[in-house]
Amino acid sequence: MSKQVKFTETILRDANQSLMATRMRYEDFADILPTMDRAGYYSVECWGGATFDSCLRYLQEDPWERLRKIRKSMPNTKLQMLMRGQNLLGYKHYHDDVVEKFVELSAKNGIDVFRIFDALNDFRNIETALKAVKANGKTASGCISFTQSPVHTVEKYVQMCKELKAMGFDTICLKDMAGTMSPSEAEHLIKGIKDALGDTPVVLHTHSTTGMAYMTVLKAVESGVDVIDTATSCFSGGTSQPATETLFYALEQSGVKTGLNEDVINEVNRFFKPIKQKYIENGTLNPTSMATDAEALVYKVPGGMLSNMIANLTDMHALDKFEQALAEIPAVRKDLGYPPLVTPLSQMVGNQAVTNVLLGERYKQISKEIQNYFKGEYGIAPAPVSEALQKRILGDGKPVDCRIEDSKRDGSDFTQAKAALGDLARSEEDLMSYICFPNQAEAFFKARKEKEENVVRYTITEVN
Ligand code: CO
Repeated sequence: MSKQVKFTETILRDANQSLMATRMRYEDFADILPTMDRAGYYSVECWGGATFDSCLRYLQEDPWERLRKIRKSMPNTKLQMLMRGQNLLGYKHYHDDVVEKFVELSAKNGIDVFRIFDALNDFRNIETALKAVKANGKTASGCISFTQSPVHTVEKYVQMCKELKAMGFDTICLKDMAGTMSPSEAEHLIKGIKDALGDTPVVLHTHSTTGMAYMTVLKAVESGVDVIDTATSCFSGGTSQPATETLFYALEQSGVKTGLNEDVINEVNRFFKPIKQKYIENGTLNPTSMATDAEALVYKVPGGMLSNMIANLTDMHALDKFEQALAEIPAVRKDLGYPPLVTPLSQMVGNQAVTNVLLGERYKQISKEIQNYFKGEYGIAPAPVSEALQKRILGDGKPVDCRIEDSKRDGSDFTQAKAALGDLARSEEDLMSYICFPNQAEAFFKARKEKEENVVRYTITEVN
């Protein structure tokens, strides 16, 4: 058993995102930040993923301002973000200068640890981000999307970790989005990776969805993992992470040092309990998302993908085809070279399986996204894709094997953003928000301006 393990607290990002679609307002948690700063976490994951989009789209918050305020209230804690490599916070590929500027601004506004992943584990897509993080003197964590398939062996994962280390990442993270990593898999993976990497810290990120997380995390700690991701207990469980205080208690009892302050982590939980209650009462947090559902273990697909397929089949009055569609998934996945079932691949594979079953013929209709996948636009698949399907989609053409940076473009995204926004944009951060989420950012800037003009008018009335 490791004698020491550190904790990353996820309540502000992944727990918030997984349980209540990232709708927690800054005001809700502002007062507890100075306390959290004394907890002794390895880091607090507080930004990236869906927080940026949700701030602009639903909460009328400037995501950069949120980050600066958290930074100010937590001067002693490393702040962490999740970023999708060359796709930043979305699904399209951005040019290198955008990725570099995004990292620079994130570092300037307060991020210390950048967890960087690519849905397909195509590491070409995380290289620019890595270099930018290192150039800004921050910690780069290379993240592998964990999945189960005939080609995803322990050896393959160890090889991937070695590559990440060789690329220059400071830490390596195994990311089990679906919560389907078993204790035994964790043991073999972590031992294999630790043996191969030596001193490089290894992080395990999992979800409680199927109920295995506590066992899996415990096995991982026994096998030498250095950092685990957990959520304050009232926001733990189900699609969120396992609980911080529970794992603190269990591990300390086994003689593992965590560096956490017991009083502080319990105080944090007491603070968040009424907030959770508020969001349950207003319907934002559905308590079902905190329950255990082991169905994902039967089908080896994430819970979110199952609910997506059920929703689509219900819409088409074909829910009776659910079992058949599930049975179709392994075939589609094999044809695609076993991509990890993480967004957007999970939806693409699920939708194609549904289409195949509904039309009664495999690939009678092929979605635009899957065609683009075969054209190479998402990166390189983990295993060879179906040759027949590739030939049908590409004809005699070849899949693109270049990054977007190698393609030509007119003008920079920054020039375009400036031209589009005019005086609505007041900072480089504003321009970046617009480049990432143009519609949401513009609507936010307009609302911000109107709000200020109203304030000014009101003040003038007062003076008169
Ligand atoms: Co997660």
